[in-house]
Amino acid sequence: MQFSTIIDDLATQGWSLQSSFLSNAVTHKLADECRRREAEGALAPAGVGRGEAQAVREGIRGDQIQWLELGQSEVCDLYLNFMDELRRALNRELFLGLEEFECHFAFYPPGAFYQTHLDRFRDDDSRCVTAVLYLNPDWQPEHAGELRMHFPDGSQRDIAPLAGNLVVFMSGDFPHEVRPTQAERLSLTGWFRRRPEDVLGL
Ligand code: OGA
Ligand code: MN
Repeated sequence: MQFSTIIDDLATQGWSLQSSFLSNAVTHKLADECRRREAEGALAPAGVGRGEAQAVREGIRGDQIQWLELGQSEVCDLYLNFMDELRRALNRELFLGLEEFECHFAFYPPGAFYQTHLDRFRDDDSRCVTAVLYLNPDWQPEHAGELRMHFPDGSQRDIAPLAGNLVVFMSGDFPHEVRPTQAERLSLTGWFRRRPEDVLGL
């Protein structure tokens, strides 16, 4: 089964890194779509927090985002449908009760970063599993911009935002950050969510 490594990794260590998660052709089309939206001015500075408390704080994160909706483009629909298959596999194998997948393009201009954080809001912990797909085919070490994961034992791991790399982790368990990037950094960042009422009932 195509998602079995992700599922095994999540079960044993709470996170997973897959390279070449999608074909180069699909990753390339997703990158084109992100660049097209950026050129059209469709991306907006990302906020921090949720609902009325949301605010744009460039000192915390400097990326620009746009949420994906079904029906916007063929390749985005393909990605959303593929991630929905992963959602169903996670539910089948790990009984996570994930109801939906939400995701946005993220564009980090040179100099942008995202300080260490958890992907759960204090007032809403419906985000259960994070999945980030990177879209940068020519990423070099000097471009920096790594995803830095912080593990419970105090160790850390840097992951390059290289096209095709998919990182999946339990949203509430791993503080992480985006190191300052030296080149334009494109990704698709998403979350598998439970319904808030299910979370409250845990
Ligand atoms: C986020 C995030 C990581 C990355 O958007 O919450 O942590 O590598 N992104 O883009
Ligand atoms: Mn995050």
